Amino acid sequence: MSDYIINVEHLNKQFLVDKKPMEVLRDINLKVEKGEFVTIVGHSGCGKSTLLKIICGLVDYEDGVVERNGHAVNGPGPMCGMVFQDHRLLPWLKIKDNVGFGLKDLSKEERAANVKRHLELVGLAGFENSYPAQLSGGMSQRAAIARGLANNPSILLLDEPFGALDALTRIQMQKEILRIQEEEKTTMIMVTHDIDEAIYLGNRIVVMSARPGEIKEIIKTDPVQSKRRGSAEFAAYKKKIYNYFFEDSDVEYEIEYNI
Ligand SMILES: Nc1ncnc2c1ncn2[C@@H]1O[C@H](COP(=O)(O)OP(=O)(O)O)[C@@H](O)[C@H]1O
Ligand SMILES: [Mg+2]
Repeated sequence: MSDYIINVEHLNKQFLVDKKPMEVLRDINLKVEKGEFVTIVGHSGCGKSTLLKIICGLVDYEDGVVERNGHAVNGPGPMCGMVFQDHRLLPWLKIKDNVGFGLKDLSKEERAANVKRHLELVGLAGFENSYPAQLSGGMSQRAAIARGLANNPSILLLDEPFGALDALTRIQMQKEILRIQEEEKTTMIMVTHDIDEAIYLGNRIVVMSARPGEIKEIIKTDPVQSKRRGSAEFAAYKKKIYNYFFEDSDVEYEIEYNI
């Protein structure tokens, strides 16, 4: 039993590839408190998505402890929602029906009220009757976040949710997700390949090694300075993270991170 909303201890994960085991995650230890916003950065293929899916109960694990609210994870459940890079909205359903899709147990009125509240929360009021094809990329991601929040999960896992967005929309979405997190008090873990995004959003940043993914460091950020993209502290976090990824490199400009 632990008091953490998420508790991962000594998690190892292998996949079978061509009948041979491939080590993907090695000795992952991560404890997350209620209301935290944790970000995860690491090279492509280091097991970030796998880690989120294991926490969500979408991928099984054989070795180690994975708990939500003190209970071993053995499948998906309503307390934990997930948002993916592609919005995965069903094209034949209106936005309101996409957002309300998982709310089978509610009455028609409760469902409508829930959908309305979450569409307002993500700034999509008025688009209830639109179809996904009628929304921009940023709006579709908002709808996907609304769907993720509609079950009122205590945990929301986000797997590169803004990866396909242009830079300006992305910055706007970062502000929005922080606001939503403050309003809803949802515990969030977000995987991102954007280091600025990881610093800006995360009260802690998990830095992972290349596959097999190990946690190299967990950086606790200053709540004020990490929200100032031009601050010296922000630059120092950035340098620290880049140095992890390019520590084997002798290319000068990478160390200067004009990448
Ligand atoms: N279901 C699966 N079966 C076999 N290999 C997988 C499976 N899912 C992911 N992998 C492999 O595990 C590694 C980590 O994948 P993933 O967690 O998606 O990495 P990341 O999200 O960090 O880019 C990759 O080499 C990927 O090909
Ligand atoms: Mg991934």
